Amino acid sequence: MSRCLVRGSINIDEFFHVRDIVRAGETTSSTGIERRAGGKGANQAVAVARAGGPVELIGAVGEDGRWVRDQLNEFGVNVDEVAFTDEPTGRAVIQLAESGENCIILFKGANYADVPSRTTLHSLGKPISHLLVQNEIPLSSTLSYLSLAHSEGVSTVFNPSPMPTPAELRAFPWTHVSWLLLNEGEAADLLTALGAPHVTPFEETKEGLPSTPSLLTSYSVVARLSRHPAFSRSVNIVCTLGSAGVLALLPALLNPIYVPAAKLEGSVRDTTGAGDCFTGYLVAELMRQKLATGVELHEAKMTEILRIAVQAAGICVERRGAMESIPTRAEVLERLQ
Ligand code: ADP
Ligand code: NA
Repeated sequence: MSRCLVRGSINIDEFFHVRDIVRAGETTSSTGIERRAGGKGANQAVAVARAGGPVELIGAVGEDGRWVRDQLNEFGVNVDEVAFTDEPTGRAVIQLAESGENCIILFKGANYADVPSRTTLHSLGKPISHLLVQNEIPLSSTLSYLSLAHSEGVSTVFNPSPMPTPAELRAFPWTHVSWLLLNEGEAADLLTALGAPHVTPFEETKEGLPSTPSLLTSYSVVARLSRHPAFSRSVNIVCTLGSAGVLALLPALLNPIYVPAAKLEGSVRDTTGAGDCFTGYLVAELMRQKLATGVELHEAKMTEILRIAVQAAGICVERRGAMESIPTRAEVLERLQ
């Protein structure tokens, strides 16, 4: 099977449980501490692996991140090109208050260190079918990988999170992107950055969509985005809507595809990483589809692919944690029966 290449971030997430978020000049005691591997690049790479897709991660950690690299390897991610740098590993220091509020300090660390760029995505005997990138590393590196993938005919998936600046978004080479994966807030921000007119809710119904007002409003944002000249009708847009599920607008298809969120067994415990789980699963299912038929996009199959990714994200929110809460494909398929 051909492989997915992820060029992205690797973090150590440190959670401190506190009664209240600490104020300036104050010292507070933490009642608990947890340390977990994270970062969008790492989370999404693990999701691809859990979904059964061969995946390589290109990124960097410091000496303090050796255990993270080992953990990614245990999850089935190829980490041969996760470099060790003099910079410490990227870090998120998170205060979790009893109220559920949080407060985060982010240190980019090794994620912004120079790692040598590849001159080709394919290594000997190991063709790459998909490139997956986010925005937690230098944008210049993301852009050079997207450009390389485009010139080598590799399908690209871009999750613009955290959002680049409006100027960066306006200058972005959208023709290098095959799949744009974002959440609803990001879709609205992107629409604003690209100078699209103010969005008013659609009054009419849309074939294939339940006609609830909030869904039609989401649809109007994503539809405007997909009609924007920047996307030149060539970018597949998949927008996640939290507990409302997912909406996909694919230029090759006449109608949008809507898949509601998975029915949960139990309550929402932790939505961290649900988007990353969805993204990794979608990429792995596209890889599987391409391998089976030579083409990744089939109208009839796309709904099924989205259902699998939505179910995986649904299991992820039922469990605490991000990376460690990503289910295996067998667990996902069992729920779908
Ligand atoms: P992000 O975490 O990137 O902001 P979303 O909040 O849109 O992304 O969540 C991604 C996916 O996770 C959704 O499309 C949905 O399938 C699933 N999900 C998120 N929140 C819930 C929830 N409360 N119940 C069920 N599924 C959820
Ligand atoms: Na979770």
